Amino acid sequence: MLGLFKKKKKELLVKLDMSRLPVHIGIIMDGNGRWAKKRGLPRSAGHRMGARVLEQITRDAGNLGIRYLTVYAFSTENWSRPANEVEELMKLLGEYLDDYKRLVGDEDIRIKIIGSPDGLSDDILRKIKVVEDATKNNSAITLNIALNYGGRDEIVHSVKKIAKDVKQGRISPEDIDEAILSSNMYTNYMPDPDFIIRPSGEKRLSNFLLWQSAYSEFWFSDINWPDFTRDDLIRAIVDYQNRSRRFGGV
Ligand code: IPE
Ligand code: IPE
Ligand code: MG
Repeated sequence: MLGLFKKKKKELLVKLDMSRLPVHIGIIMDGNGRWAKKRGLPRSAGHRMGARVLEQITRDAGNLGIRYLTVYAFSTENWSRPANEVEELMKLLGEYLDDYKRLVGDEDIRIKIIGSPDGLSDDILRKIKVVEDATKNNSAITLNIALNYGGRDEIVHSVKKIAKDVKQGRISPEDIDEAILSSNMYTNYMPDPDFIIRPSGEKRLSNFLLWQSAYSEFWFSDINWPDFTRDDLIRAIVDYQNRSRRFGGV
């Protein structure tokens, strides 16, 4: 029985074409609340389990050779949740940042946070700086945590920065192009996501990487994020590799 199980796992890995991996994967980590509800647990238990799964999947993605992983942890719209849930999520995020050494360990993982600082506590902002500084020289995989992130908010932020450059005479309105918008986004140090995964059964972006996902491939699944495994990641990437990306060409 165990032999058969191992063989199946191997078969899955064999299907992966290591020369055609997506460079950048985005994950909308959704379904924590439903995972907890199914088990009669509080929503916060789902968020805690989701954070554990993120650690594992980051290592798995790094070991597979994925260069950038961007995960949606807290959206600009998530502030509308009940105050106690927002509080729990912020507490968990703070603990997660404090615990970055457990996640990174000896592995070559760089951690970056993308999103707006507005509304985040000084404590969280300080922790973000510590984690980013401590991991800045790591380079195998970059884990971008989208925290207080909204795609529309990011576009507004980019446009404001460009407007300032125009006002101060650094560029003229005619110079504004897609590259300038991209270079003013939070994601300016990485390529656009090739592949976006959303577990939990929802089939929407919920304001995730709107500008950057123009030509991303999508993979939706009913699995709730706390149940997501390395095999699911591999299955998703195999599916991605069977698609033809045309970018408007033939
Ligand atoms: C995703 O899980 C985590 C965050 C949005 C912070 P949810 O909390 O949205 O879980 P569901 O969608 O209610 O199951
Ligand atoms: C998207 O999930 C945001 C995160 C995973 C952080 P939501 O649960 O907030 O999205 P909606 O409300 O179902 O669209
Ligand atoms: Mg949700």
